[in-house]
Amino acid sequence: METKNGISSASSRGAWGSKIAFIFAASGSAIGLGNMWRFPLNVAKNGGAVFVITYLVAVFFIGFTIMLAEMTLGRHTQKNPVGVFETIKPRTPWKLVGFTAIVTCVCILSYYGVVAGWAAGYFFKIITGSFKGDVTWEASAETFLQFAKNPMAVFLCLFVIVGITVFVISKGVKGGIEKFAKLLMPLLFILIIFLAVRAVTLPAAETGLSFYLKPDFSKFDIEVLFFAVGQAFFSMSLGMGILLTYGSYISKRDNLVSSAGWVCFSDTMVALLTGIIIFPTLFATPGFDPKGFEVSTGLMFQVFPIIISKVPGGFVFGMIFFFLLLVAALTSTVSLLEVPVSYFIDEKKWSRKKAALLAGIFIFLLGIPSALSEGGVPLFTKWGFMGKMDLIFGNIMLAVGALFICIFLVYIWKVKNAIKEISQGNPRFKLGPFWVFNIKVLAPLAIIAILIFLIKDIL
Ligand code: PFF
Repeated sequence: METKNGISSASSRGAWGSKIAFIFAASGSAIGLGNMWRFPLNVAKNGGAVFVITYLVAVFFIGFTIMLAEMTLGRHTQKNPVGVFETIKPRTPWKLVGFTAIVTCVCILSYYGVVAGWAAGYFFKIITGSFKGDVTWEASAETFLQFAKNPMAVFLCLFVIVGITVFVISKGVKGGIEKFAKLLMPLLFILIIFLAVRAVTLPAAETGLSFYLKPDFSKFDIEVLFFAVGQAFFSMSLGMGILLTYGSYISKRDNLVSSAGWVCFSDTMVALLTGIIIFPTLFATPGFDPKGFEVSTGLMFQVFPIIISKVPGGFVFGMIFFFLLLVAALTSTVSLLEVPVSYFIDEKKWSRKKAALLAGIFIFLLGIPSALSEGGVPLFTKWGFMGKMDLIFGNIMLAVGALFICIFLVYIWKVKNAIKEISQGNPRFKLGPFWVFNIKVLAPLAIIAILIFLIKDIL
């Protein structure tokens, strides 16, 4: 049902049952391998604590701003990413931003699926008893290497992940995985806190903690800022239409600002706590040499078996932990696949099953070079295929998407309309001046500066 300005009424589409339902669903998309695999990797590669601080600043000033912008556009138009632009500025190239978001989701899912596959493989390894007794650094690193460079194992794991994602999406998201996630995500949170407490009580945990929490500002440069902003976008699922879509199901009575705040908070807490597990464990592990250490893509897969071997009942803990990690990854893969699938259903009139299956096959094939890039095939390894995909789609394209969202909101839709939308459900929008300044000035300038730097660096 459409009203005269092309905006459909809430009753004709789905809607979240409550504000909490939205917060859970958006956190389910946000919390995943980005927090537990990619965040520590970025910290390790980009100067430790100085990255953590830059990341927090990026979340507060830029991530939150873009998240609220996406939710506001989504709730106002109640449309999918392409529809948002078509509704406000019909028949213009603006809808290309929606298309770019779809391509970005597909490309991210192709390598994200590989890492989620590693989590599935590790779950299987733990149940079959691969990590018994006190796990050493060398043994853990070797296990990861052998696993990641075995093409049959990684293909099979990627196939399982894409298969489950296609299955869930072809059934519709709401009933299955989200109910499951609502139940299991709090458990993951509790388990992470438990492991973090164990990690900081390891002997010699301080070196790791100080690498993670004591900043050395001489290590700060624009590259750190670039990766911090990119990490914030990736982790919070921004710049690719997810929050536009999820925002489109929010009730007009709900407070968008506090909802966005809760999603930012829970996502950031999971990332920060994961760091508290990884770095003290890494530095406290006998055989670990910080000087000769090269950060491997499999950092978290090398570190978690070690900390798990150090808690009483580590086998059971390990099993539950990797199972929950898998669930967290699947709630994210599902949200990534839903974007292209909803496009094919809405615009090409494909059935949900056909869209999910064809997209799944394409994503599996696209994932093969990433699956082989950790030692499976020298060409892909040398070229660092997965790293390149992550740089282009997981950093640059998200930043570009977010920049266009800022420009569209400020110059096409206009800030006063956004404020009007936000004020529904939040009549005294206290953060108004802060948000307006960020969306008009700070966020676009920061993103432009970073992109210019990056392009100059590549050329
Ligand atoms: N935010 C998810 C994570 O941190 O693992 C990854 C992700 C999910 C990125 C969905 C993008 C997205 F659309």
